[in-house]
Amino acid sequence: MTVFTHAQDLIKTIREVTEEGIGMLNAEKTAETLAAISRRATLRPRVGIILGSGLGGVAEAVENSVAIPYEEIPYWPRTTAIGHAGRLLIGTLEGVPVVVMQGRVHFYEGYTMEEITFPIRIFGEMGVESLIATNAAGGINLAYSPGDLAIINDHINLMGTNPLIGSNNNKWGPRFPDMTYAYDQDYVQTLLRVGEEEGVRLRQGVYIAFSGPSYETPAEIRMSRALGADLVGMSTVPEVIVANHMGIKVAAISCVSNYAAGVKAQKLHHQEVLDAMAGASESMTALIRGFLRKIAPDAGRY
Ligand code: HPA
Repeated sequence: MTVFTHAQDLIKTIREVTEEGIGMLNAEKTAETLAAISRRATLRPRVGIILGSGLGGVAEAVENSVAIPYEEIPYWPRTTAIGHAGRLLIGTLEGVPVVVMQGRVHFYEGYTMEEITFPIRIFGEMGVESLIATNAAGGINLAYSPGDLAIINDHINLMGTNPLIGSNNNKWGPRFPDMTYAYDQDYVQTLLRVGEEEGVRLRQGVYIAFSGPSYETPAEIRMSRALGADLVGMSTVPEVIVANHMGIKVAAISCVSNYAAGVKAQKLHHQEVLDAMAGASESMTALIRGFLRKIAPDAGRY
């Protein structure tokens, strides 16, 4: 054996050992988290829901719920952003067993992509098949106004990174997951129907994600519009990528909390975002309830 092939073998072995090590670490962490959750709640959720800033109303609608503060769940990232409570709710909504994240963490808080998406890994391990993600977003599309709800039908990732970077855990999903239908098309249609039935006007558009925490400049917003984006935010994309990696179907809804930078001759304030979200909480709840009623036959009514 030449020195060269020997070195190659050595590199291969190191890579295999490392990947196995990372896989084991993942498995150990998720097993510990799952065990801690199942000690508190026995329900097996089929749908995961992520509530964005100020959407507490949805959480209040969950029945027979067990609430677990994030700090009591091993490895669960803690929320630091204002307007985000930090607890996991497990219960039923419209008879569907759900797990709800009341508050999420963001990349701008300093968490790694792996930490941000750890809850989605746990959802997948719990047997969650569908994810409903909500967020606050700036309206890039000139037809949008604050308070509007918009279904996300695709995204542009400008966060500068990807939660799947690193060795791939093949048990979770493929190395190169397809993102053609990152936002399930049937779910988009279902949401549109629910919007009509509930009298909630729904927009539909492309979400572009920046890392934040500074809001975008007017030039960045003009660029985003030219790229085909309708909504802008600092969340959701990492979770959606990981959900797709695990084969979890995604429905995502933005609440337009403000005109994106430069759309109006005015500055952006976080308080304005929170106020708009509080105002939209009721229609968001109606939309999520209606959506769950429609998917209930597939989502294993409790
Ligand atoms: N930009 C980025 N993130 C946001 C915005 C925005 O205008 N509004 C709410 N989240």
